[in-house]
Amino acid sequence: MNHDETRSKLHIRAAGVTDAAELARLSAQLGYPCEPAAMRQRLERLTARADHAVFVASIDAGALLAGWVHVGAGLWLESGECAEILGLVVDTAARRGGVGRRLIGAAEQWSRAAGFERIVVRSNAVRPEAHAFYPSLEYTLEKTQRVYGKVFRP
Ligand SMILES: CC(C)(COP(=O)(O)OP(=O)(O)OC[C@H]1O[C@@H](n2cnc3c(N)ncnc32)[C@H](O)[C@@H]1OP(=O)(O)O)[C@@H](O)C(=O)NCCC(=O)NCCS
Repeated sequence: MNHDETRSKLHIRAAGVTDAAELARLSAQLGYPCEPAAMRQRLERLTARADHAVFVASIDAGALLAGWVHVGAGLWLESGECAEILGLVVDTAARRGGVGRRLIGAAEQWSRAAGFERIVVRSNAVRPEAHAFYPSLEYTLEKTQRVYGKVFRP
């Protein structure tokens, strides 16, 4: 299927808990394997919140999803609030067909409707396609950072 065909058959909608298995499948492509049951629990919690949204893309009403995006409200003591893209993945089989652009469009639309004037996204340095993708959608690089974590001892 060429890009124009993909674009014309693309549907974007809010995610529901019945999408859990597909979201989990795509999450693995993002590098975060996840059991469908765990994904379902997360979705139930997120879809109950007004300050988060998850959108999914399907092509031609197919059973497989082509991608998902998670957007939410961020609030920082030092810099105030803005919308933040918290996750985005397009199925490897559907990339470069405009799916990512449409998902970001849905996330931006939600953010504007929620009253945000700005949107940010943190993207792992090891994702070269993401670092071509965001600038093509008029996102500008603001800074680079390192992420530290700690597992608590029992
Ligand atoms: C990044 C990602 C979401 C892009 O999704 P996509 O559906 O392939 O992107 P689109 O087809 O909407 O591309 C829009 C524009 O971005 C740019 N772009 C996207 N992928 C690119 C790539 N691999 N190389 C160069 N430019 C690219 C192009 O300018 C493209 O427009 P064009 O096809 O008309 O030239 C997808 O590659 C992906 O899921 N990657 C793995 C996960 C990831 O990096 N997620 C982001 C985490 S923050």
